[in-house]
Amino acid sequence: MNIRKFALCLAVILTFLTSVAQDNIINIKTNKIGSPVQNTMYGIFFEDINYAADGGLYAELIKNRSFEFVPDHLMGWQAFGNVTIFKDGPFERNPHYAHLVSAGHSERWTGLQNEGFFGIGLKKDADYRFSVWARVPDGKKQMLRVQLIDEYSKDNNQEFVQNDITVSSKDWKQYTVIMKSPRTIDKAQLRIFLCNENGKSGDGICDVEHISLFPTDTWKGHENGMRKDLAQALFDLHPGVFRFPGGCIVEGSELETRYQWKNSIGPVENRPYNKNRWESTFTYRYYPDYFQSYGLGFYEYFLLSEEIGAEPLPVLNVGMACQFQNWNQESAHVPCTLNDLQPYIDDCNDLIEFANGDAKSTWGKIRAEMGHPEPFNLKFLAIGNEQWGKFYFDRLKIVAGAVRKAHPEIKIIGTSGPDSEGENFDLGWEAMRNQKVDLVDEHFYRPISWFLDNMSRYDNYNRKGPKVFAGEYACHDKGKKWNHAGASIYEAAFMTGLERNAEVVHMATYAPLFAHVDGWQWRPDLIWFDNLKVAKSVSYYVQALYAQNKGTNVLPCSQSVITPKGEDGIFSSAVIDVEKGEYIVKIVNTTTNNKSIFIKFDGLKSISEARQITLDCSDYDKENTVESPYAVIPQEKSITTEDNSINLTIGGKQFIVVKVKK
Ligand code: AHR
Repeated sequence: MNIRKFALCLAVILTFLTSVAQDNIINIKTNKIGSPVQNTMYGIFFEDINYAADGGLYAELIKNRSFEFVPDHLMGWQAFGNVTIFKDGPFERNPHYAHLVSAGHSERWTGLQNEGFFGIGLKKDADYRFSVWARVPDGKKQMLRVQLIDEYSKDNNQEFVQNDITVSSKDWKQYTVIMKSPRTIDKAQLRIFLCNENGKSGDGICDVEHISLFPTDTWKGHENGMRKDLAQALFDLHPGVFRFPGGCIVEGSELETRYQWKNSIGPVENRPYNKNRWESTFTYRYYPDYFQSYGLGFYEYFLLSEEIGAEPLPVLNVGMACQFQNWNQESAHVPCTLNDLQPYIDDCNDLIEFANGDAKSTWGKIRAEMGHPEPFNLKFLAIGNEQWGKFYFDRLKIVAGAVRKAHPEIKIIGTSGPDSEGENFDLGWEAMRNQKVDLVDEHFYRPISWFLDNMSRYDNYNRKGPKVFAGEYACHDKGKKWNHAGASIYEAAFMTGLERNAEVVHMATYAPLFAHVDGWQWRPDLIWFDNLKVAKSVSYYVQALYAQNKGTNVLPCSQSVITPKGEDGIFSSAVIDVEKGEYIVKIVNTTTNNKSIFIKFDGLKSISEARQITLDCSDYDKENTVESPYAVIPQEKSITTEDNSINLTIGGKQFIVVKVKK
């Protein structure tokens, strides 16, 4: 044997010996049924960032449909011919509309063209409901021609579908037409213009307002509905809780632009527009045309929570603007007096009435009129997002105190601020304990090293007092901000700690949720989409594997080889689903090597039917994209068992879920 062959053999033998030495026995005590896993575990955090609402989940296809964007009321539109914007329209809180007057020549046109949100996505043979509020001020009938067009078409015609509407009333009225798209296109535009029956420009006048285009095939078919594929992706996650509407959007860059839920209910035409604070948060990703239409408002949110089976968890403002963006704290927030905070207290109590009140109560009546006479059964309310310091503690005391007095049945969630540890975090927790909030919202967008240091973060958390809501978290790999498999594996490993500590961790929501590939401000995100397609990130599958296999109670689960703090290794946790008679073990290997694992179900005589779901993150940089959405997805197979144990090998950077029936 030459030296090279000898070295090779030695290497093989050494690798074998090391892998044997690294055998890990995972022992699950099946008779020791532990803390219940809360129904609220593994939820979703929704914020209108990255065009998550308008241009995303909210299925409206027209941008600036009410001509309310500022400073340019025609943002998103190209006007041609003779178009003027007036502001004495039919909707008090959205007063602007477009006044169209014939261009004065039979072959010159007056009208508007809308670019949608990075284009308008249409599907072949799908129906779209076009609607417009319109009137003819002179009382003379006027035809409007509506076209869906492809500006870059190489065909003869840019338009590929066209419908005419005749406006006959001097008073404002809504006109509707269903348009069927003969083709699939991701960046169409909508064109609407004055036209007479002969196909000429004519000499008429027409006012138009709230121009809207929706697919008829929305989630559950609701008219003011959600994009079906994106809502379905939420449903498929089996979320336990649904946090809304943010995030920093709750606070606004300044108090004027904070999310005001009362503006988000009632007829959509009259929900006032708000500047989206993410339009300018990052100058390197600047979107001057990012506004909130509030079309996806609090009614739609409660309804969607109900439909996807998640507990609603609204977050409301505590009288404070974003502390990051307002270093002059004295002037940025509402003065800390009961009088000044009363509108914020009212917002909380009125929201609870809107969700839960009798259909005859002031706010419950509005809910009933919107279509949901039954209460939404709201149980939680978070007050303040990512706030810190005395400014917050003092205001929370007043606001939460008043809410508790009126609604002792509602669980209050406070926050420990943006830091995952340190002085402000500790002070936050201390204040939350003193104020006896029910849960504390912790945030951590942190690198891999932090996740490795925090695998057992909750093992020693105080079980008494407030519970933990891990309200915003994600693993942000250095220099690799996209949703690659290599970062997701650390989330999976960290979540064994969430699961193991079900006694104290009652809620957890990865953040942010959605991102439009053409318009994001923040990444990584759980679900990416373009105008037609959706891509569930690897992190999405991590969340889904936990949520779909959360069981009912924790089981003690010990490893013979314990991974030292800060190091890569094996991380595990186990639960039982008492109703299904199923044991579920989650194992994550963050190292790059295969590891052999021996799982022992202590207390069981034998096990039948065992299945293994594997999420293989070993291709570190790999991600799921809208072009290639299934690059990294879970794979399921059945596995063999031996009496009450299972022998398996977990590959490097793999997350496996083992499910066993009694
Ligand atoms: O998720 C993005 C932002 O991160 C949230 O709006 C905020 O709460 C946090 O700083």
